[in-house]
Amino acid sequence: MQELRFDGRVVVVTGAGAGLGRTYALLFASRGANVVVNDLGSSRHGDGSSRNSADTVVQEIRENGGKAVANYDSVLDGAKIINTAIDAFGRIDVVVNNAGILRDVSFAKMTDAQWDIIHNVHVKGAMKTTQAAWPYFLKQKYGRVIFTSSNSGLYGNFGQSNYSSAKMGLVGLANTLAIEGARKNIYTNVIVPTAGSRLTEDIIPPDFFEQLKPELIAPVVFWLCHEICTENGSIIEAALGWAGKCHIIRSSGCTLRQNFSEDVTPENVQENWSKVTDMTSAKRLNSIQEATGELLNVLENIKSGDSLSGVNHVLRSNY
Ligand code: NAI
Repeated sequence: MQELRFDGRVVVVTGAGAGLGRTYALLFASRGANVVVNDLGSSRHGDGSSRNSADTVVQEIRENGGKAVANYDSVLDGAKIINTAIDAFGRIDVVVNNAGILRDVSFAKMTDAQWDIIHNVHVKGAMKTTQAAWPYFLKQKYGRVIFTSSNSGLYGNFGQSNYSSAKMGLVGLANTLAIEGARKNIYTNVIVPTAGSRLTEDIIPPDFFEQLKPELIAPVVFWLCHEICTENGSIIEAALGWAGKCHIIRSSGCTLRQNFSEDVTPENVQENWSKVTDMTSAKRLNSIQEATGELLNVLENIKSGDSLSGVNHVLRSNY
């Protein structure tokens, strides 16, 4: 199989001074990309700043014969990060939104500041950086965007209401950008990593932590960003040298009334709850149009119940 290359392409990786972002930057550079290594150099909680982490990775790339420049801005100043790419390399092809911090606290004790900083860095930061690259993507009819979500977002995690909601917000952002970019060859996907890093060092047991190497995730992100990869709007979980795709699925559900003249009472809902929540024939809906189409089927079913009114009193599942 021919080696996948990024020669001539320009890749921004945010939060690339450490952890996952560092391994992404190293891999892209090793395959010919010009890389902007963005990192604010903050603490795990988002305090402080240092040029050291971005500089170290840039140096590492250059020592390996690759091309990279550092950028030390916060992702909230995304336009400055993209300007660094344009100034240094004259174009921008890929944005890997990876920068992230934690401010774990139980929901009861969450302050506005703890909520806002997490949403700002993860959601607004990813939005600002991607939006600054978007006009270039539209013009050149090519672009690749990665957002970084988390199992904490997909499934929830104690003490992470700020982080999990931000991480799920990125899934919503990716869903819409995948639609807006599709016709211009701009593809957006979400990576859900699990990796040993400073964010997880006191959470994951040491033996498992050792195995969760960020280098095992980087090739998945690399592939999603390659021009021949047509994946778009997907959530890809990766860890340990394994990767899989996640979907939101919905049950077939159940009609709660038989015809237009009937109301839906709370008791109807109670009576049919096991059918509403029966996931045995659950499926994924591919678009908002498909979801609306399914509701039109419900409408047709209730209409037909209307014409059968008085005869058909059996609640139908599958609409
Ligand atoms: P890390 O702490 O090793 O790296 C994150 C980097 O982002 C740091 O170098 C930090 O200085 C930088 N950063 C923080 N705020 C920034 C800002 N405002 N602007 C620019 N850079 C900033 O963490 P790790 O584990 O490599 O995480 C990378 C991403 O993956 C994060 O978005 C994290 O939420 C996500 N993630 C990580 C998981 C894991 O198992 N490590 C699990 C799920 C998601």
